[in-house]
Amino acid sequence: MKVPQIEFTKNNFSISRLVYGIWRLHEDKEGTSPERILEKIEVCLSLGIDTFDHADIYGGFENEELFGKTLGKIPTLKSKIKIISKCGIQIPGPKFPTKHYNTSKEHIRYSVERSLRKLQVDKLDVVLIHRPDPLMDPYELAGIFEVLIKEGKVLHFGVSNFTTSQFQMLQSVYKKPLFTNQVEFHPFYTEPLFNGTFDQALESNFHPMVWSPTAGGRIFTPKSERELATFSKLQEIAKLKSSGVDQVLYSWFLNHPSGLVPILGTNDIKRIQSAAGSFSYPLSRMEWFSILEAARGMEVA
Ligand SMILES: NC(=O)c1ccc[n+]([C@@H]2O[C@H](COP(=O)([O-])OP(=O)(O)OC[C@H]3O[C@@H](n4cnc5c(N)ncnc54)[C@H](OP(=O)(O)O)[C@@H]3O)[C@@H](O)[C@H]2O)c1
Repeated sequence: MKVPQIEFTKNNFSISRLVYGIWRLHEDKEGTSPERILEKIEVCLSLGIDTFDHADIYGGFENEELFGKTLGKIPTLKSKIKIISKCGIQIPGPKFPTKHYNTSKEHIRYSVERSLRKLQVDKLDVVLIHRPDPLMDPYELAGIFEVLIKEGKVLHFGVSNFTTSQFQMLQSVYKKPLFTNQVEFHPFYTEPLFNGTFDQALESNFHPMVWSPTAGGRIFTPKSERELATFSKLQEIAKLKSSGVDQVLYSWFLNHPSGLVPILGTNDIKRIQSAAGSFSYPLSRMEWFSILEAARGMEVA
């Protein structure tokens, strides 16, 4: 079974239900040659994963360029994939000694145009504001969103790591539907279930994207008592289903009614293939709650 698409109905746009993340591209033990990157893109496409999650800053501002060099070599790939990128974080360096956020219209235009150049594409499917900027002027930001869409450089804008009120504030000014709120969520960080993030997605009819779904790999290398209990619960369910622990974990995300979209962070081809098999192992309500209980170290009230 191939990874299905998920429709963002308000935006009239779909992406694959699992997205492949580019944050750790430069950490791949097999290297970052165009051949290696192409291998991973082709594996993803063969599994139905056609959406790739970038950010300008990934790999010290180099991962978009590495990916783009691969696209440049095989231009036919461009029509087969969807590209999400993020901007708005300014890493400290000689020009900017203080790490900061910048959501000014000049910076968003500069970043989007730089991503287009580095990725060697003429449009980005989705651009997300990477972090909420306390100095964000929603009118200025919504204005540049509109302009970049009109210029055909970006199809959809959204946000990442926004609280519900920050999301609502920007949405109240921006006339088009924000595409998503990409947030951290995994068994060791379950806040979005309880702080309104996923409620807002259901209410506003968008699908949250989930970053670090395996807690940066910590799920598989548990240390604390709670982490060990969570891993052993995942193992117990996996054994019953004759599945992988990773497949039970991804299935846990897929159960949520808001239609979560986990972003895979592994550089390992076998692990990408395994994740794509998660759709064959739906969880019962009790299995879902037993993972939550192990992860939080307490039963629900
Ligand atoms: N919006 C944001 O602020 C934000 C923040 C962070 C990340 N992201 C996005 O989310 C994506 C995923 O985040 P992430 O990289 O932290 O994902 P993750 O899956 O939580 O972490 C990936 C790490 O876990 C290991 N891992 C993954 N699956 C494994 C498995 N089945 N068994 C053992 N180890 C496993 C990987 O090692 P191997 O490579 O060796 O498998 C890698 O070191 C990023 O690429 C990025 O696109 C967004």
